[in-house]
Amino acid sequence: MAQLLITGGAGFIGSHACLVLLEAGHRLVVLDNFSNSSESVPARVAELSGISKGQRLRIIHGDIRNREDLDLAFNAYTDGITAVLHFAGLKAVAESIKDPLLYWDVNVNGSRSLLQAMRSYGCRTIVFSSSATVYGHPDQMPIPESAKVKPINPYGKTKAAVEQLLNDVAESEPGWRIARLRYFNPVGAHPSGLIGEDPKGVPTNLFPFISQVAIGKLEKLKIWGGDWPTPDGSCIRDYIHVMDLAEGHKAALDVLLMGNSQILTLNLGSGLGYSVLEVVAAFSRASTKSIPYIISERRVGDAACTVADPALASKILNWQTKRNLEQICKDCWKWQEKYPHGYVQN
Ligand code: NAD
Ligand code: UD1
Repeated sequence: MAQLLITGGAGFIGSHACLVLLEAGHRLVVLDNFSNSSESVPARVAELSGISKGQRLRIIHGDIRNREDLDLAFNAYTDGITAVLHFAGLKAVAESIKDPLLYWDVNVNGSRSLLQAMRSYGCRTIVFSSSATVYGHPDQMPIPESAKVKPINPYGKTKAAVEQLLNDVAESEPGWRIARLRYFNPVGAHPSGLIGEDPKGVPTNLFPFISQVAIGKLEKLKIWGGDWPTPDGSCIRDYIHVMDLAEGHKAALDVLLMGNSQILTLNLGSGLGYSVLEVVAAFSRASTKSIPYIISERRVGDAACTVADPALASKILNWQTKRNLEQICKDCWKWQEKYPHGYVQN
């Protein structure tokens, strides 16, 4: 059992990871400023794990850029913090193009501030949320970790910068145990339907958009391009169930805690690609709702196909995805049906 600091632990991926880590017996402190999440999330995570909030799940409403908030987090347990899982950050590509200063501040300066606090508390184990977006438009498919890092938007550039910062920190002194996890497309929800993805405003990502079409909140899906060089003309992505992703974090943490200094860079994906049209059909089956759509212009910045090569993660973490597209759609729909307005009005 370890004491873990979970930055951004109230968010979509962090909340599911908290649940898996509580179930593994760890004690957690979540540091979140709730800029993109609801304060009701930790209570739901506690409920699902069968503990009472406060018992092994402490919450600090604070910011990773604020040293006083970090001090509170590192002092949450008398035995100190063994490792950090760093989910806190901003993730919207379009917003990052409009406001790169904000993205560099939260994602890069926030990570620097966290690492500085870690160093002063003697905590040198961190799992970082990176993204497949660091590959930009890769030349190889499926994408191995050895593919070139060449992000094409400010969001991706901040993720690549933090990866580099972690590398520099690891080289600066011995003892650092670091996992840089490059997620492909995290989707789905906990099978209970109690926690899930709750984007603010009109969603820009595919699954939240389709869910809201299925529930009747949005009229129809616009498929960004029907003339891509793929079998059915729509883009292909590697969708990973958020519970598989959460379990991947536990596996990475276990490997770090068992080993000496090391820096891991791993893809977390399924290795399978599905087209937008295939996702629409699968979601329609799972929800038994029709999903009206039109084929629209291509979206700027999209790639035809992005699929992970997950072989290295499978070997090093002894982990692989277990849930298929059908399960993803089923769980996503359960969350949407149970909480059509997300966390806000429930
Ligand atoms: P999310 O927005 O749901 O969760 C991020 C959490 O961090 C939120 O609860 C937010 O309130 C919090 N936060 C933001 N800025 C903060 C700050 N300055 N201090 C403290 N807390 C702060 O996002 P998510 O989908 O759960 O993503 C988690 C991480 O994974 C992010 O770093 C994201 O970039 C990365 N990632 C996400 C995806 C994806 O598709 N969801 C893909 C690849 C990588
Ligand atoms: C996007 C980001 C990526 C980020 C990820 C998670 C871009 C170009 N990429 O990935 O950097 O890490 O979200 O936040 O923004 N689609 C439609 N209609 C829609 C929405 C999506 O056809 O209304 C299609 C897209 O063209 C894409 C697929 O569905 O082919 C998945 O899209 P999305 O969920 O936005 O994820 P990515 O674009 O892969």
